Amino acid sequence: MPAVLYEKRDRIAFITLNRPEALNAFNREMHQQLREAWLDFREDDNLWVAVVTGAGERAFSAGADVKEMGQRREEQSRRSFWETWFGEDLQSGLEVWKPTIAAINGYCLGEGLTLVLACDFRIASERASFGFPEVNLGIATIVGAIRAPQVVGLGNALELLLVGDRVDAQRAYDMSLVQRVVPHDSVRAEAEALAQRLCRNGPLAVRCTKEVAYRSLQLPFRDAVRMGESLRRLVAASEDAREGPQAFREKREPQFKGR
Ligand code: COA
Repeated sequence: MPAVLYEKRDRIAFITLNRPEALNAFNREMHQQLREAWLDFREDDNLWVAVVTGAGERAFSAGADVKEMGQRREEQSRRSFWETWFGEDLQSGLEVWKPTIAAINGYCLGEGLTLVLACDFRIASERASFGFPEVNLGIATIVGAIRAPQVVGLGNALELLLVGDRVDAQRAYDMSLVQRVVPHDSVRAEAEALAQRLCRNGPLAVRCTKEVAYRSLQLPFRDAVRMGESLRRLVAASEDAREGPQAFREKREPQFKGR
């Protein structure tokens, strides 16, 4: 059984973490296959939106595979400390400007939560729960500690990161960790409906706007505007930027092509 299922339907990529017997914990195979899926999604011009979820009914992901941890520590110690490594995972910094949606169908812990924080939209089952239990194991989480304050604010992030207890879907909603809480059985359908809605928009405009929103978090205002205006010109030169206004004038739905 593959550790990640990767399916393309129309413009949407469906990525499913597929180790339900281990609550979709991240082992080496899953990292490898997930990386390949994100890279393929990023490069395939026919794909405009990705939905990521967990197989089974209990977990999105229970985080890093704790049973594999001894081995991974040995692997890491062989890697030079001075070798800067960002990896090619979405959760560890892969740049993907197409929109990504997490359909959170249960436990969402540790690295699973870090992955969800790297997605643009988070839709949670009412049965989902969230946490960074790393500190309970004596392990530090780094990318989670970088991303969480940007999404939920420093106080809420530190509660998750330093206490390590799980919070339920309602509390996650209250701290803006997820945008929506839905009945368990409809979490994947809601994510797909949002993906289809996003596919009706001009994909280059969506990607440009997403990149400006994220990149400008780290830029002074004037630099962000200059960067954004340059990207806007690229989008304005596309066929899609002519198609949108033309469709409006002709009172029809635009047919965007992503070029
Ligand atoms: N790594 C490896 N295996 C895991 C796992 C993980 N992170 N989380 C769960 N599993 C496995 C369990 O070992 C168990 O397998 P087994 O039946 O072969 O023993 C199976 O998934 C089901 O988990 P179980 O613990 O029986 O379910 P539960 O409902 O009682 O508890 C959790 C669910 C998520 C609370 C509990 O599994 C847990 O605390 N997991 C570890 C979470 C964690 O610390 N993640 C961060 C690591 S940095």
